[in-house]
Amino acid sequence: MPEEKPVPRSSRSPAAGIIATTARSVLVTAGVAALANLGRKALTQAPTAMARDWCEGLTREHEATLAAIDKLMATSADHPGSRTMQLNAIKHMIAKHALQEENVIYPMIAREAGDAAGELNKEHGEVKAMLFELTRMDKTDPAFATTLAQLRGALEEHMREEEDVLFPALRERLSDDENRKLTRAMNMAGVMVA
Ligand SMILES: [Fe+2]
Repeated sequence: MPEEKPVPRSSRSPAAGIIATTARSVLVTAGVAALANLGRKALTQAPTAMARDWCEGLTREHEATLAAIDKLMATSADHPGSRTMQLNAIKHMIAKHALQEENVIYPMIAREAGDAAGELNKEHGEVKAMLFELTRMDKTDPAFATTLAQLRGALEEHMREEEDVLFPALRERLSDDENRKLTRAMNMAGVMVA
């Protein structure tokens, strides 16, 4: 009985060729998407990644968020596409930031300082509602700028309370080791979403 030889590449069926080409193109597309995703991750995580502790990291994210909102406020109604893109980036920054606070920092505030966490979560809910309104709004509508200014005002007041009162008070109550652990836990929460 003659020995079976392997089928040379050139004589594979056309279907096998199509499958191979499709698989290659899927891999290339996945690679491009992964790179874009890495770029977005690096951008969103940059403020926290450079911080020495959770409190500094969140403060830097606050500053980056307000700066991004100021940039969006400076756009004109003649560029609705640019407004949509910038709003999407802001929503992503805020979503990552909110998850870190809601899943890690606020529970710790609730454990250590009681009531304040409930109010902070409520304010986050109001911010999410405003972001939802901005998303569904016509970007050429004059109300877009008004709602955006309301969002900025609400965020700034919320951030002042966190930065000037609640966060320093929590950091003070915790030991160095507990603060280090809290920073690690916050970063883990951020990496998962960004
Ligand atoms: Fe915050």
